[in-house]
Amino acid sequence: MENACKPHVLAVPFPGQGHINPMLQFSKLLVSKGIKVTFAITLFTAKSMQTETGLVNIELFSDGCDEGGILEAGSLDAYFERFKTIGSENLAKVIERQESSDFPFKCLMYDSCMPWCLDIAKELGLVGVSFYTQSCSVNVIYYHVYHGLLSTPVQGVSAVSMPGMPLLEISDLPTFLLNSESNISYLKFVADQFSNIDQADWLVFNTFHKLENEVVNWMLNELPTRTITVGPTLPSKYLDKRGEGDDNYGINLIKPDRRTCINWLDTKKTGSVVYVSFGSFLSLQEQQMEEIAWGLEKSGKYFLWVVRAEEEQKLPSKFREEYMSTSVSLPDKGLIVKWSLQLQVLAHPSVGCFITHAGWNSTLEGLSLGVPMVGIPIGSDQTTNIKFVEDVWRVGVRGKVDEKGIIRREEIERCIREITEGEHGEDMRRNVEKWKELAKEAVDEGGSSSKNIQHFVDSLLCS
Ligand code: UDX
Repeated sequence: MENACKPHVLAVPFPGQGHINPMLQFSKLLVSKGIKVTFAITLFTAKSMQTETGLVNIELFSDGCDEGGILEAGSLDAYFERFKTIGSENLAKVIERQESSDFPFKCLMYDSCMPWCLDIAKELGLVGVSFYTQSCSVNVIYYHVYHGLLSTPVQGVSAVSMPGMPLLEISDLPTFLLNSESNISYLKFVADQFSNIDQADWLVFNTFHKLENEVVNWMLNELPTRTITVGPTLPSKYLDKRGEGDDNYGINLIKPDRRTCINWLDTKKTGSVVYVSFGSFLSLQEQQMEEIAWGLEKSGKYFLWVVRAEEEQKLPSKFREEYMSTSVSLPDKGLIVKWSLQLQVLAHPSVGCFITHAGWNSTLEGLSLGVPMVGIPIGSDQTTNIKFVEDVWRVGVRGKVDEKGIIRREEIERCIREITEGEHGEDMRRNVEKWKELAKEAVDEGGSSSKNIQHFVDSLLCS
């Protein structure tokens, strides 16, 4: 029988793949340490769920957009308005329903981009925890924007100086800081993550201390709240030195290819495959997609490419005809799937290079699993992440764009060779191995993230 004194956490992710994965993984860690967690999923998200949450309970609620999620609302602003009115009310009901049970909620953990959830926590007397899914460095930049310490749009300067970071050129800044006109609601969305943090009880970051050492130190000094780093929030199977444990990761909102990728990778030599993926929702320009295709072909390397269904039509016809996983016989040179189990792929010994948009999860996953990267950032925080990949952690290169903003096939080929061949490639492989070890160290017993998580758990158990 479950211990009736177990503290109960209600976890509320922003309904996007890159936000759900790290919060669910953190929730699983809490469960493994004796905390009960219920994961609140919107009705629309639940319709797309392809995999289970394991030991974390699920509670479905309506955010007011049950048929189409954010698309149904029409814009991010409109979505948040509905969430604030309808979603918040429904979340409060979920909490109130539980009040008379054996496990009333004690804590509300919410995605940092939905800061109004803290009002629900405070109103109902719960511990309020803001969970950040982007790097600490990117968050420090947004913190500066929120406090007016960095005015936007950033213009008339060639570089920006931020605490604990190398000088950031304009092209290294999160793109929301540049064209404020078209990005105004996104900028507000990311800056507002800091709007009420003085009332939050904990700020939780999916990074690890040594990875962003100076920035984390600055943050710890600056923020009034209990600020902790808890990452990387990957399943212990991949990080634990004994290589055991649960290997389910996040929830897949797209049906993943389970066996074809791995069977295909099994036929390839160590480090010989380039894995290509651009995250869960961003879209590439058709011309960029073509350049990537021909760049892969020119490199002569094996490739495994995730092309989501809605992007498939942008592939050159040769690629659609020859490399799709649905082909009658499995292609040899390249394989294209609609969605992979990304951690299994990155952890596979055949994968030696990761072409990525550098979303924070993908960046942290590549680094923690020891795969050097080629960055083709599309927008948002990815430009900053790839700056760190290239110049701070030295585990990858950023593709250079031409005057039309496209990374050409020759450049893609050059980047792949830079990673897989020559002295620079060897340096990057050595560096990424070092970061992989440090990531493991952070989550192993006595490591920085592990101690922080225990500290958080103890506070829930004792209060
Ligand atoms: C977005 C932003 O880009 C990111 O910077 C932000 O911090 C969170 O939201 P997304 O663009 O989807 O996320 O990229 P990313 O952060 O890399 O997250 C994608 C997730 O989907 C990763 O956890 C990755 O492992 C997973 N994935 C991706 C798969 O499981 N299979 C795939 O085929 C592709």
